[in-house]
Amino acid sequence: MEGKAITPAPNASTKSASPESDREVLKIWGGHSLKGQVKISGAKNSALVVMAGTLLCPDDCRLRNVPSLVDIAGMAQILAAVGVKIEQNGDVLDINARNILDTQAPYELVSQLRASFFIIGPLLARLGFAKVPLPGGCAIGARPVELHVRGLQALGAEVHIDHGTVHAYVKGPNRRLKGAKIYLDYPSVGATETLMMAATLADGETIIENAAQEPEVVDLANFCCAMGAKIQGAGTNTIVISGVRQLHSVDYPIIPDRIEAGTFLIAGAIARSEISLAPVIPDHLTAVIAKLQAIGAKIIVEAPDIVRIVPAYRHGATDIETLPYPGFPTDMQALFMALLTLSEGDSLIKETVFENRLRHVAELNRMGADIRVKGNVAVVRGVARLSGAPVMPTDLRASAALVLAGLAADGVTTINSLQHLDRGYEQLEVKLQKLGAKLLRVKASEAANAELPVEIGRSGLH
Ligand code: UD1
Repeated sequence: MEGKAITPAPNASTKSASPESDREVLKIWGGHSLKGQVKISGAKNSALVVMAGTLLCPDDCRLRNVPSLVDIAGMAQILAAVGVKIEQNGDVLDINARNILDTQAPYELVSQLRASFFIIGPLLARLGFAKVPLPGGCAIGARPVELHVRGLQALGAEVHIDHGTVHAYVKGPNRRLKGAKIYLDYPSVGATETLMMAATLADGETIIENAAQEPEVVDLANFCCAMGAKIQGAGTNTIVISGVRQLHSVDYPIIPDRIEAGTFLIAGAIARSEISLAPVIPDHLTAVIAKLQAIGAKIIVEAPDIVRIVPAYRHGATDIETLPYPGFPTDMQALFMALLTLSEGDSLIKETVFENRLRHVAELNRMGADIRVKGNVAVVRGVARLSGAPVMPTDLRASAALVLAGLAADGVTTINSLQHLDRGYEQLEVKLQKLGAKLLRVKASEAANAELPVEIGRSGLH
C-alpha cells in the first residue's frame, strides 16, 4: 500500500468550520454553448455502501473507480474511527477491516453523512453487536430508519434505541444472525442494502421481498458476491441471500454514476449543446432518457458505454413522477425541473419519494422561472429565459440544478453553499469548464470582481 493512509480525525469531524473569509461560491456566466466529451466518475451511492460492505470482510479489499468527494471522505473517516485500515491512491481505496476495534460510530460523523448508518448491518453480521447513532433528518425529509431496524430484528437481532443511538446485538454463543423472510413496506434503498449485507454472514437463507432494485443495490450485491457471498435476485424485487461463514479478499470497480451522467445529459439539453458522456451504463438511465426524448431531445448510444445528447432547438413539456427504480429517480427531479423551466408549455412534477424535496423551486423562481407548488406537486410553466441571480441551494441535487439553470440563464449566477455540491460531484466545475462552460470557483468576498481568465473566457459566446 503506497497511498495516503486515512486516520480518524482528532475531533471526529470531517467538516472544519471554515471562516467566512474562506467561503467559496461558484460564479457562472450563462449563455455559452458546450462541446466535447465528459468523463463520468464512479457512483457516489455505490461507493459509499460498498465501503460499508468492506466491514464484512477480514481480508484486503481494493475498490476502484471511487470518486473523490466529501461524502466518500466522510465514510472513510467512519471506517477509520472503528479501526479499519484505509488508504487512498487516486480513485483506488485499499481497505482492511481485519481488526475492528470499536463498534460505535461517532455521532459527529454519522450526523453529517446519513449513508454511514448503513455500517450497522455489516458490523452486526461480522461481530454480533453494533452501536450507531440515529442519523436524524436532513434538508429533503425526516428519513427514518425503522425499516432497517425491523429487518435486523427479523434477522434475530435485539435492537433498542437509547439516547439517540441504535444498539443492536445478537444473543447466543455464536452471535450469528439468522436468515428470515423480510417484507419491506417500502422498497427503501438503504434498508435493502443494510439487510442484504447483514444476511450475507447469517445462518441460513434470507429473502427480502419488495426490495429496492436500484443499480447501486445490484453493485453492492455484485461486490459481496465477488467476496464469496451468495446473493440472487438483486435488481428484482425479491433478493435471496444464503449466508456464508466468511468472505474473502476482493478487487472491485464501482459502476459509473448514473446521477452524474443524468446531470450532464441535462447540461447538454439546457445549454442546447451536443455533448457525449463516457463511461455510462445506458440501461441505468432509461427513465431519464425517456423523459429527454419525450421533450424532443435525441439520445444516441454511440458505444455500449458512450451516450450523446442531441438537444432540440426548443424542448417541449412533460410530466414527471419520482418513483423507486426503475421509475424516474428522485435524485434527478430538481435537475429535470431546471430544464423544464425553459421548455415550451406546462409540466407537472410530483415528488413521491421524499416529503420535502421541492425547496429548489423558490431559488429557480428567483432566476425568473414560473413554478407553483402545492404539497408534493410542482407546476412548471415554461418561460423564454432565465436571468442569472445569486442563489442559495439547500441540498446536493438542488445545487446542481441551479448550476444547470445558471448555464442557460442570461448574465451571472452565483451559487452559494458549495458544501452541498462538493458532497456529491467530483470536480463539477472543472468538467463543465472542459466542455466550454464559463464558470469559476472564487472566494465569496472576491466574487463581485472576479472575471474569467482568458483561457476559460475566450470562446463560445453567442
Ligand atoms: C438512497 C440514496 C439517495 C436517493 C434515495 C432514493 C444513498 C446513500 N442515498 O437514500 O441519494 O435519493 O436512495 O433513491 O444511497 N424510509 C422510511 N423508513 C426507512 C427507510 C426509508 O420511511 O427505514 C423512507 C425515506 O424517508 C424516504 C424513502 O423511504 O422517504 C426512500 O428512502 P430510501 O430509499 O431509504 O433512501 P436512502 O437509502 O436514504
